[in-house]
Amino acid sequence: MAGGPIERVAVVGAGIMGTGIAQVFAQFGFGVAQVDVSEAVLVKSRERMRQSLEGLVAKGKLPREEADAALGRVRQTVVVADAAKEADFVVEAVVEDLEMKKKVFAEWDRICPPQVILATNTSILSPTEMASVTRRPGQCIGMHFMNPAPIMRLVELVPGLLTAPETVEATKALAGRIGKTAVVARESPGGIVSRIMMAMRNEAADILAEGVATAEDIDTAMKLGAGFPMGPLELIDLVGVDLHVTNSETMVRETGNTKYRPHPLLRKMVRAGLLGRKSGQGFYTYPR
Ligand SMILES: NC(=O)c1ccc[n+]([C@@H]2O[C@H](COP(=O)([O-])OP(=O)(O)OC[C@H]3O[C@@H](n4cnc5c(N)ncnc54)[C@H](O)[C@@H]3O)[C@@H](O)[C@H]2O)c1
Repeated sequence: MAGGPIERVAVVGAGIMGTGIAQVFAQFGFGVAQVDVSEAVLVKSRERMRQSLEGLVAKGKLPREEADAALGRVRQTVVVADAAKEADFVVEAVVEDLEMKKKVFAEWDRICPPQVILATNTSILSPTEMASVTRRPGQCIGMHFMNPAPIMRLVELVPGLLTAPETVEATKALAGRIGKTAVVARESPGGIVSRIMMAMRNEAADILAEGVATAEDIDTAMKLGAGFPMGPLELIDLVGVDLHVTNSETMVRETGNTKYRPHPLLRKMVRAGLLGRKSGQGFYTYPR
């Protein structure tokens, strides 16, 4: 709606994060257009959303009618133009690949009305660079949801160099409307959460590689001793060992600081195909 309140959101990418982000907006009453390049992914995404909402109903956290209504607010499509022309706000959650994200930003910039904010859920890539391929760098911003998006209460806002203050304020207000607390991390690789978490995960791999403790004991120590809901090695398995390595390499490239380098054990695991949950084996074994 030109210059009006944000009521309809487009979520680009229907993977792990795009599914969670679409669910959150729908739960809080927004009309959601969910877009992916694959129809099959969209079908899977809707099913994951349905299961997640069922879980909330079962736990008594969401009335059944609200869960049904939320799912009914999500429209899925593989046609960008259909979703883009109706969206008041766009969140991109495609794979963590800068060239891919720049393509998405350029495409959506061409179709969306000029006042629409284009946000990226990137963990460590540059919103400034994504904005550089658009005609609206002032209305581009990082909006970093945490995994799982329906549960985690934080959203990191990452203004790029040319992001307008009004864009930061509008995005912060939007985060409040979906029950999230927003913090601002000016563009810097990894922002707050990923930067700290990545260093911690590499350290956990180092403790394991030195033979100081077993994977189970490292994770137990961090859960019971530091109050973490998951241990750092369990988290690497969840995120994907390969993604952790790629993100660490990006941190080194962007900052020039080798303290972020992926631990050699993690590189070896990737070479051996031990990618974590998605391959069935990482630090732990996952029955398939
Ligand atoms: N997984 C996490 O824990 C996590 C946490 C925070 C942020 N992130 C960030 O969120 C983003 C998405 O991560 P993910 O784990 O959900 O990835 P994913 O691989 O699960 O999903 C990516 C989806 O994007 C789709 N896609 C690719 N190109 C597209 C295009 N041009 N248009 C529409 N859809 C397209 C793919 O088909 C896929 O379904 C990344 O930038 C990632 O760094 C991930």
